[in-house]
Amino acid sequence: MYRTHNCGELTISDIGKRVTLCGWVQKNRTLGGMSFIDLRDRYGITQLAFNMDTNEALCSQARTIQREYVIQATGQVIERSSKNSKIPTGAIEIEVEELKVLNKSAVPPFTIEDETDGGDELRMRYRYLDLRRKPLMQNMLLRHQLAMATRNYLSDGGFIEVETPFLIKSTPEGARDFVVPSRMHKGEFYALPQSPQTFKQLLMVAGFDKYFQIARCFRDEDLRADRQPEFSQIDCEMSFVEQEDIFNTFEGLVKQLFKKIKGISLPDFSRMTYNDAMKYYGCDKPDTRFGMPLVEIQHMVHGKGFKVFDEAELVAGICVRGAAHYSRKQLDALTDFVKRPQVGAKGLVYVKFNEDDTFKSSVDKFFDEVSLRSWADAFDAQAGDLMLILAGAKTSTRSALSALRLEMAAQLNLIDKNVFKPLWVTDFPLLEWDEDTQRYYAMHHPFTAPKTQDLQLLYSKPEEVRANAYDLVINGIEIGGGSIRIFNREVQSKMFEVLGFIEEEAHKQFGFLMNAFEYGAPPHGGIALGLDRLCAVFGGTDSIRDYIAFPKNNAGKDTMIDAPASLTQEQLKEIGIDIK
Ligand code: AMO
Repeated sequence: MYRTHNCGELTISDIGKRVTLCGWVQKNRTLGGMSFIDLRDRYGITQLAFNMDTNEALCSQARTIQREYVIQATGQVIERSSKNSKIPTGAIEIEVEELKVLNKSAVPPFTIEDETDGGDELRMRYRYLDLRRKPLMQNMLLRHQLAMATRNYLSDGGFIEVETPFLIKSTPEGARDFVVPSRMHKGEFYALPQSPQTFKQLLMVAGFDKYFQIARCFRDEDLRADRQPEFSQIDCEMSFVEQEDIFNTFEGLVKQLFKKIKGISLPDFSRMTYNDAMKYYGCDKPDTRFGMPLVEIQHMVHGKGFKVFDEAELVAGICVRGAAHYSRKQLDALTDFVKRPQVGAKGLVYVKFNEDDTFKSSVDKFFDEVSLRSWADAFDAQAGDLMLILAGAKTSTRSALSALRLEMAAQLNLIDKNVFKPLWVTDFPLLEWDEDTQRYYAMHHPFTAPKTQDLQLLYSKPEEVRANAYDLVINGIEIGGGSIRIFNREVQSKMFEVLGFIEEEAHKQFGFLMNAFEYGAPPHGGIALGLDRLCAVFGGTDSIRDYIAFPKNNAGKDTMIDAPASLTQEQLKEIGIDIK
């Protein structure tokens, strides 16, 4: 037997026991005639003690042992003279009698401790060493707990887990596909699934009624902190349901996860329509942990000779409580912030509602105090507040204000990291118009059903059709999305037509689904929650990379295994790809 206990479980109640532990050497230090080794495994750290006076040979051996060696130590559990209250095993140590090196280790390229000295790049290259560190190990444990609790909840609710294929067919909708060349059918390609969407719908046609899968998805899109090219979804579909049934089931799931894993009882989730989210928060995933809603004032500002406002489709702003004291330098920095290409505004107008009831603004030349006071009323501003206003095209101004709102909340420390505010965003538009290609795109995907009351608009004003689609947002992060699906073949054909597919093309791409709908498709709908993002919310960090055992870096590369990599000419020939 290699070990009797792990390195995280021995306490004062084990004193006197003879134990054998195995693990990695975290630290080895000498204090006079004593030597101490911190022995680490997944469960914790236990101190091993060696005494030069009582066992010189063993103590000398211990002194040769280096960081990250894998060792086995047998000895008595004794009480420590200087206790460490920070770790569960801190009251005891092992008085070692036998010591065996199971394996040596090269000097690790960075220290394997909670706070490491290794840079990002280096830690990615040696991910297996980074994963030895407690914070990452705990992240993986959290992921495991979330996945297990999800499986239990859904299985208890009658869902069955079904695996769907990875080698499927490329479709032009959505993000870019990763493709896989076929050796047996030269010149033809599989695509990796962006989600199991069509398969889960086919499972509903097959009568599975309630499906789930913790499914790996692949999307060839630009990476961000909350995006990886391969990620996991808690993917679900249900038959004979309406939006309300989906909300009940998945609100229940998220509540249960918070209760079980964080001990937090969440209240019922708020709801907001897409239109309200855009109007009051400037984005479809508002962080509702703080207020500061957008206020539109274009109807109050036209015709005073200020061209920026006169020519703008939208003039809107936010009221920042207690920030009238912002200095010229701070306001200049905010102007620079909104002008950054990622934010994209042309400039920033400020109005200070001073403590002494006077106003100071960057547009004093055009607007008198009466005007500024009327804006203050619209903003519900009080003395001491700062109003920040942007103007321009509706969509871009809203999105810039959304960024500014988040920036102000961060600057003023308005976000409580221990608060969780889930929100259902509903009534998304069914379609988005794309200027470049001059066509509509499905905002969610082409199988999303229009709201019944908007169905006729699909034939006359498609841009006004609202979808039976919803997102689950927690603290400003899009955790999940789903919809009630089209199950009627005629509506599906119409949808493809609006999306600019000619009948033949629609058949080529999605004929299998349309055919399946000929054979008694039940009304159905579903949702997919991003497991990686859920982990990040539970763990309280922004980057989903920390919750994926072997993620890609910002350039989409795995530097540890060196992927992607080129193929040999022979391999290329075999799959029928000729790169000159
Ligand atoms: P959607 O495309 O909205 O819906 O994806 C669902 C959820 O998956 C997560 N997600 C990602 N997570 C990490 N990296 C990515 N690149 C990434 N892309 C998406 C998000 C998102 O909310 N088939 C539909 C679901 C349905 O209609 O049932 C779908 O995939 O958390």
